[in-house]
Formats: sequence, structure tokens, C-alpha cells
Amino acid sequence: MSVTPLDHFVGIDSLTSEQFWGLMRLARDLKEEWTRSGRNEPILSGKSLAMLFEKPSLRTRVSFEMGMQHLGGYAFYLSPAEVGLGTRESPADVIRVLSGYVDGVMARVFAHRHIEEMVAWGSVPVINGLSDFSHPCQALTDVYTIWEQLGSLEDRTLVYVGDGANNVATSLLMAAGKVGLNVRVVAPAGYVPSDEVLTAAEAEVDITDDLDGVMGADVLYTDVWVSMGDEEEKEDRMAVLPPYQINTELVRRTANEEVLVMHCLPAHRGEEISDAVADGDSSRLFPQAHNRLHAQKAILAHLLGGAALPS
Ligand code: CP
Ligand code: NVA
Repeated sequence: MSVTPLDHFVGIDSLTSEQFWGLMRLARDLKEEWTRSGRNEPILSGKSLAMLFEKPSLRTRVSFEMGMQHLGGYAFYLSPAEVGLGTRESPADVIRVLSGYVDGVMARVFAHRHIEEMVAWGSVPVINGLSDFSHPCQALTDVYTIWEQLGSLEDRTLVYVGDGANNVATSLLMAAGKVGLNVRVVAPAGYVPSDEVLTAAEAEVDITDDLDGVMGADVLYTDVWVSMGDEEEKEDRMAVLPPYQINTELVRRTANEEVLVMHCLPAHRGEEISDAVADGDSSRLFPQAHNRLHAQKAILAHLLGGAALPS
């Protein structure tokens, strides 16, 4: 049975489990093709992607641009200053203009509603490249990386440590729910997922502020304590989050010598993760970052090139 195609890639919660697995399998196939032969079939020949950024980026910008190029297409960067999303021009007008020029739009925004507005008004696929609410490209990559690293997702436990209410945690919880990963969030009060996110995640999520919650983890995951746009909360956050650093002692506390450590990057080394762990044997930070390329190729091949999602 074929998997129902997607129109956009805006949030993990709007995907079925079959669609999520379909994107992971397509990512695996495109990565295998690229690794084996050093090239991909140019299935996006003649296709273009506008990449609209309201915030800085290394991974998202470069992996989308290279992903389009590897698939035979063309991507270009639009800076915050030149577009002025919501200031110089409304998201509804921006997307209606771009819909006449390009085959898809990837946007990194402050307000998630700007992504939703573009979906509502545009006539080309919209990809969420991070908003204040979610980071679905990252979550697809992360679960794909866990699958690749561990071989199977059955009976595996992912423990998210730190700011459990941010965009990366939100999408990761939702992605975990699509594949049946067990999830634990180890975070101080006030930095735990909202009830809305927990309901949308459809995952079994245990929440604790006790660091012993890392025990038995197969994967330990963290992200920065102060996300882009949250800078005015820095003092409050730095007052409560430091005990939740992933360091050698916390890795030891998992009692799993094979635990994998992940971080979406960029990292604030010495804050949410120590150098020793980020550069140590447990770290999968760089394979994870590299997989952004392959996961996003799957999104692009499907949305812009009509590649089927394997079941
Ligand atoms: N992880 C991630 O999205 O990185 P960038 O902010 O560099 O794109
Ligand atoms: N939570 C971080 C992720 C960066 C990729 C932020 O939004 O700044």
C-alpha cells in the first residue's frame, strides 16, 4: 500500500507514522545512493528552493543548499534584512509572490504562525526550517540517526536533558511518538513540555527533575539553554539549568557504557554539554549534523520531486 503524500513539512505532529517512516526510508535510500556512488539521480532538475531566514544558521542553510544541488536543483538564500517577514511585507504576500517564482520555500522564522500563514496563502510546498515552536527537520534527522546508529528503535529509551520545553525538544518528542521510542525528560520545573505538546506527541513521556532519570538511557540528548529569541530570559535560565549539564558524571549515571550523546548544535560548550562529552566516545554530534543533509534530501525529493515514500 502506498503512503499518502505530503503537501508541506511544517510539523511532525501532522505526519502519520507511515509518512514519518517513509521519509526515514527515503533518507536511508538517498544516503546509500550518495555514499555508494558519490551522486544522486538529478530528480530535482529544473526545480528551485527559496530559503528564507529570520535567524542565523549553519547546518540548515548549508544542508538544504547542498541537498538541492546534489539532487540537480537550485537553492538560494534570502536574508532577514532583505525580506523583512512581517515587517516590510506580510508572510501571506511574501509566499504568494514566491509561489510564482520557485517550486518550494524553506523558512526559518521567529513566530511559528508565520509558517502557518505561508502554508495557508501559498501554492508551493513550505518547509519549516525552525520556528519558536518547533524544529521538525532536526527531529526527523535525529530519529533517523538513532535508527542508523542503533539498528532498531524497539525498546529504546531517549532521555532529553535540559530545556524540555524548547522547539527542538517539542519536535523530538513528537518524532519519538511516531516510532514508539520511550521518552524521558529530565528538566527543572518550568522547563518541561506543555500538556498540548504531550498530547500531540502521542508518546509515553516520563518527566522528572531528578538527574537519576538518565538511568538506562540509550540516547542522551540536549540543546542550548537559551534559544534564539529567548535571550531576555537568559538570567532566569542560567539560574536553574546548570545542574542539567551533560558531562562525564551524567553519562556515567546512565549505567549504559554504550549510551549515545546527541545535540542538534550549535552547542554552548561548558553550559549544556561539556567538552569531554561532546568530543568523547559517546558523542554522535557530527554524524547527527551530517545526517541533516540526507534527511532533508528526502523531504525535498518527496515535496518537490514527487519521490514516493517507501512503506
Ligand atoms: N541545528 C540547526 O538547525 O543548526 P543551524 O541553526 O546552524 O541551522
Ligand atoms: N533551540 C535552538 C535550536 C538551534 C538549532 C534555538 O532555537 O536557538
